[in-house]
Amino acid sequence: MKQDDLEAIATYLKDIPAESAATAPLSADDPSMQAGAAIYRDLCAACHKLDGAGVAALFPSLAASGSVASREPTSLIRVVLRGAQSVSTSAAPIGPRMPAFGWQLNDAELAALLTYIRNSWGHAAMPVTERTVRNARSRLAVRND
Ligand code: HEC
Repeated sequence: MKQDDLEAIATYLKDIPAESAATAPLSADDPSMQAGAAIYRDLCAACHKLDGAGVAALFPSLAASGSVASREPTSLIRVVLRGAQSVSTSAAPIGPRMPAFGWQLNDAELAALLTYIRNSWGHAAMPVTERTVRNARSRLAVRND
């Protein structure tokens, strides 16, 4: 890549606000928080742990992740819909994988799950709506990466 392009990408990335504008987390009694917590316990906690802390050098902490509470949830939606694969190196050959959940969770379930992780462990971020998930899913459907 050219230096100018690299600098433009870096400027863009540094410009994205890390945390959302919400000041207080949604109440744990909120129905979407309760639904999201149940899904998180079933599908995510085995790797990322109930307290969102993950496992050092294996599964990232969601509690410490800026992308979880980002104002713009597209990347977050994408990683849960499609999964992700860490690179493997000769020093760290495992390259842990985040499974895809797009086939297993519908838009309402994904919205509740993401709203839950965006409002847990110290995060306070705008809820993710079913419509936002539906739009992201249809935009991603035409990309095969
Ligand atoms: C089998 C273990 C495993 C399970 C189960 C799992 N993940 Fe992951 N997750 C990973 C790994 C490994 C990564 C890092 C992938 C990478 O490096 O690209 C990851 C990354 C992530 C990230 C990106 C974090 C960041 O800071 O960029 C999010 C968000 C996430 N997972 C959410 C979830 C949610 C929500 C669930 C449940 C639906 C879930 N994960 C289930 C292993 C798992």
